Amino acid sequence: MKKKILCYIFLFLPVCALPAKTEKEIESRIENLLSEMTLEEKIGQMNQLSYEYESAELLSDIRNGKVGSLLNITDPETINRLQKVAMEESRLGIPLIIGRDVIHGLKTIFPIPLGQAASFDPELVRQGARVAAVESRQLGIHWTFAPMVDISRDARWGRIAESFGEDTYLTGILGAAMVQGFQGDDLSSPTSIAACVKHFAGYGAAEGGRDYNSTYISPVQMRNVYLPPFRKAIEAGAATIMTSFNDNDGIPASGNPYLLKDILRKEWNFDGFVVSDWASVSEMIVHGYAKDGKDAARLATEAGVDMEMVSRTYTHFLPELIKEGKITEEAIDQAVRNILRVKFRMNLFEHPYADTHSPSLLYAPEHLEKAKQAALASAILLKNEDVLPLNESQHIAVIGPMAHAPHDQLGTWVFDGEKARTVTPLNALQTTYGHIRYTYEPGLAYSRDKNPENIQKAVQVARNADVAVVFLGEESILSGEAHSLSTLDLQGLQSELLKEIKNTGKPVVLVIMAGRPLTIQRDLPYADAVLYNFHPGTMGGPAILDLLYGKYNPSGKLPVTFVKETGQIPLYYNHNNTGRPAPEQVVLLDEIPLEASQTSLGNTSFYLDSGKDPLFPFGFGLSYTTFEYSGLLLSAPEIRQQDTLTIQVTVKNTGDRYGTETAQLYVRDLVGSVVRPVKELKGFRKVNLQPGEEKTISFTLSAEDLAFYGRNLTRKAEPGEFLLSVGRDSKASLQTKFYLKEKD
Ligand code: BGC
Repeated sequence: MKKKILCYIFLFLPVCALPAKTEKEIESRIENLLSEMTLEEKIGQMNQLSYEYESAELLSDIRNGKVGSLLNITDPETINRLQKVAMEESRLGIPLIIGRDVIHGLKTIFPIPLGQAASFDPELVRQGARVAAVESRQLGIHWTFAPMVDISRDARWGRIAESFGEDTYLTGILGAAMVQGFQGDDLSSPTSIAACVKHFAGYGAAEGGRDYNSTYISPVQMRNVYLPPFRKAIEAGAATIMTSFNDNDGIPASGNPYLLKDILRKEWNFDGFVVSDWASVSEMIVHGYAKDGKDAARLATEAGVDMEMVSRTYTHFLPELIKEGKITEEAIDQAVRNILRVKFRMNLFEHPYADTHSPSLLYAPEHLEKAKQAALASAILLKNEDVLPLNESQHIAVIGPMAHAPHDQLGTWVFDGEKARTVTPLNALQTTYGHIRYTYEPGLAYSRDKNPENIQKAVQVARNADVAVVFLGEESILSGEAHSLSTLDLQGLQSELLKEIKNTGKPVVLVIMAGRPLTIQRDLPYADAVLYNFHPGTMGGPAILDLLYGKYNPSGKLPVTFVKETGQIPLYYNHNNTGRPAPEQVVLLDEIPLEASQTSLGNTSFYLDSGKDPLFPFGFGLSYTTFEYSGLLLSAPEIRQQDTLTIQVTVKNTGDRYGTETAQLYVRDLVGSVVRPVKELKGFRKVNLQPGEEKTISFTLSAEDLAFYGRNLTRKAEPGEFLLSVGRDSKASLQTKFYLKEKD
């Protein structure tokens, strides 16, 4: 009865948080609860189901303590009803933890994570996740399956959209910021949601960019490239972690004790819980790793998967496995402890319900404003031949399928954001930018459209305008999970449309909204300016208009290399040098003399047709102003292992507009016990500068920043010479060297 009254009070006083409990109190509550639990109830905590409808079976399972978590349920009334069954009708009153994929916003949709990464701004990413947490928690969602910190070096992989791109350092910083945003200062706060860093590990290296495919990441690569962002997210406090679908070198992640126990628990001291990916436990049968459901349950439990997402092998087979002595009850207790720890830390026992009484915060004006800021900071100016910013007196032709694509502009992984709330560029022209003269003629209805019928109408509109703004890109369905592509050119007749518009002789601004870096080499000659947006979310329209009209100076930088041709993939800035790197100038296909002798081209590493360089390098992004770097200065030419090196550089705004530059610091370890990349990002700083203004900024580097996993898989900074470069992108040209000394 007492319990009922408490719950009643909390149902109607949902934002009243109890004081945070100490870790010691939490551990003792866990042990007390565990000692009262039957084996069936323990296994119940390890079971996560996807909500479909309120069936009698589901209610009875919750009542009998057979469900620990539900995902994909978003109606607050239903959440509260089911939660009430767990709290008041189950024997021990353990709350359900309600999960949802809130990847880049719940209702207010922010740019896709790849776009947010282009901001190079952890604070912005943190704020976006905070908005998502506030909106989610109001509906009763406690837990999101984000951030995804899979290093993605292959744009064919549709899930590159959900990633922070190709760089380990940037991904780690932004992943940690996202965790902090979701979880706030205190996981027990009623506006916090638990983060779930995913997919552990190596999923982004899917062979050929084909989703779910096997990976072959060596132990050194795993340690140096793929694992560090997970560690950063966990150090930032991520409450949970999700396994991945791929098998790495033959071992599916949900059955990999080396990753889940040796590294995650023993080395990193992670004490939250591990959830499998969707059915990835039972899929170990399909992989050919488990012989049946029972074997899969055994392998996943032994590996350290605490909660099974949807495939129910735990519920079905763990009792039998324990009876047969194949799994110990202690292993089950350990998993349940991990799950209960998160539920206690979140204060779910005291505050399990959705807040159905406070005024709605969904799409709150300040949320929309933050989403707009994120869209502004995420756009990358790739080309500008004196057309941008536009002049407000110009009559513009608004062309292309993405000018008004309220659904597609939101991007992948949007289950809850409504397209009715999207503000497209066309909408912005009808409202905030109502004073601009424009004519709208999309020419194509959607990105894959192959119907040429309306192209000439768009051409006519362009002819009558001063400038054409052509909005092209990808529908949201073309990126995201299971949406891999083998060609990354603009789909349908989009390139043809652009060409026709350029043929009018009018200046052409190309605005792209896409889920990945597309191969736009063939389109560049037909655009005088290119503004690239990874699907920018709810407020993409007004943000793009502010950028086009110079109310906001573009400042985004590419978080991923743009290739010229799909065949260049994987091409990433931090590759190894090889024994035969290509020289500055290489001989390309059309320059090869007839019957050239076998070795006359020089035997180096590049493609005869697409050369050695990308279309745009990692870190690239223009501005309406220009910046100059000078005065690179180190605090010392050599440092000891315990020292900190300070690097100073001056950045000057040499143009005539206020602008923001992201200065980037790269380091190359010239000789290593394993070959080190040609450069690695080690720091970045955002600098705001008035025209003519200059600022001296500084970075620091310690031996810890230079450390890596070498030949015997131990992590240390190896003494020797380092090449350091600073600049506006990964081609950073200001360079100097320093030495790291042996230990004294
Ligand atoms: C995805 C995860 C996601 C889960 C739950 C899976 O298919 O790989 O990233 O969190 O579904 O929806």
